[in-house]
Amino acid sequence: MLGALRDQPADKILTLMQTFAQDPRADKIDLGVGVYRDAAGATPIMRAVKEAERQWWEEETTKSYLGLVGDPGFADAMTELVLGDAVGREQVAAAGTPGGTGAVRQAFELIRMANPRARVHVPDPTWPNHLSILAHLGIEAVPYRYFYDATGGVDADGMLTDLACVPRGDVVLLHGCCHNPTGADLNPAEWRAVVDTLNRTGATPMIDIAYQGFGDGLDADAAGARMIAGRCAETLIAASCSKNFGIYRERTGILLAVAQESRLRAVAQDNLAHLNRQNYSFPPDHGARLVTKVLGDAMLRAEWQAELERMRRSMLGLRAQLAEELRRLSGSDRFGFVAQHRGMFTLLGLSPAQVARLREEHGVYMLGDSRINVAGLSERTVPVLARAVVEVSG
Ligand code: LMR
Repeated sequence: MLGALRDQPADKILTLMQTFAQDPRADKIDLGVGVYRDAAGATPIMRAVKEAERQWWEEETTKSYLGLVGDPGFADAMTELVLGDAVGREQVAAAGTPGGTGAVRQAFELIRMANPRARVHVPDPTWPNHLSILAHLGIEAVPYRYFYDATGGVDADGMLTDLACVPRGDVVLLHGCCHNPTGADLNPAEWRAVVDTLNRTGATPMIDIAYQGFGDGLDADAAGARMIAGRCAETLIAASCSKNFGIYRERTGILLAVAQESRLRAVAQDNLAHLNRQNYSFPPDHGARLVTKVLGDAMLRAEWQAELERMRRSMLGLRAQLAEELRRLSGSDRFGFVAQHRGMFTLLGLSPAQVARLREEHGVYMLGDSRINVAGLSERTVPVLARAVVEVSG
């Protein structure tokens, strides 16, 4: 049986991680996988998370099973964090998942269960794993225009034109904030236009929000998701706690299914529980527990928000420094978009050959499409990157 298996295409992000680890150069720079790093290059455990973990270690009395969709307190806390008061809690079905990827996977499966012919329209470009999971599930992915290479900004006209042609029954995948890989986000007017378009066509929105708090702040980053959930008939939301709580390996995420008609909540909730049972029974609890404790305790929440805000500002500072350094060295504003982008990622607009030269000649690792993880930089390495980029692209 095993002999019938074929080699699988390598995951570009994880392959880059391995190649970086094997590079013996001491001054190599890792701008690959989306993991936050501080100025010393470490990915620390956030202080509030560590404290929640200490408290939980003392309080926990059993490791017996919870319900199929996880702790209801986690669902309440995450619904409030992501959706604020945009919808009533009785409109939201929720299921804990292993990370944001788990939520994305469960959402795609739910879509296929509801409509086996549904296609999922994805921004071009999008996170490669969206495409990979869709292909794995046999769901057709249809790209819509999103990014305008010439400006490094959102191609709003192209996007709205393409979305206007998406039929009812299909799904439109949107990145809630901090678009991965481009870093280019919709502004509030563009979000409003997307909502109007979706409401005209009847297509169902699905939002992947994995970086809430890394862009313009916790509420601003969720504004698009809230607008969609509040104004569209039905919305799926896959949210991750990996980045904003720094609990990557704990695998903590949630899938929310929001319906204006609250009578749909029960059937959605039932199907989310069923899907969890089929795929892994119970979602992991530890990370979800820490998130629930942090969000539910005023002091821990304030400490977490302050630390998240410091991380956000540090990425913005690195963006400003990089944009300025590139402007100075290249003598042009062609990289000005670096300071406009939000979140961890920016697509620099370099060719695969230029990316390869950066890796081979300068020890700078980024994805083949020239996506960099801004949080992989430091004040010291920004000038190194800028010089290398200008050299290979000059
Ligand atoms: C990334 O895009 O680098 C992150 O979302 C990590 C991952 O799982 O790919």
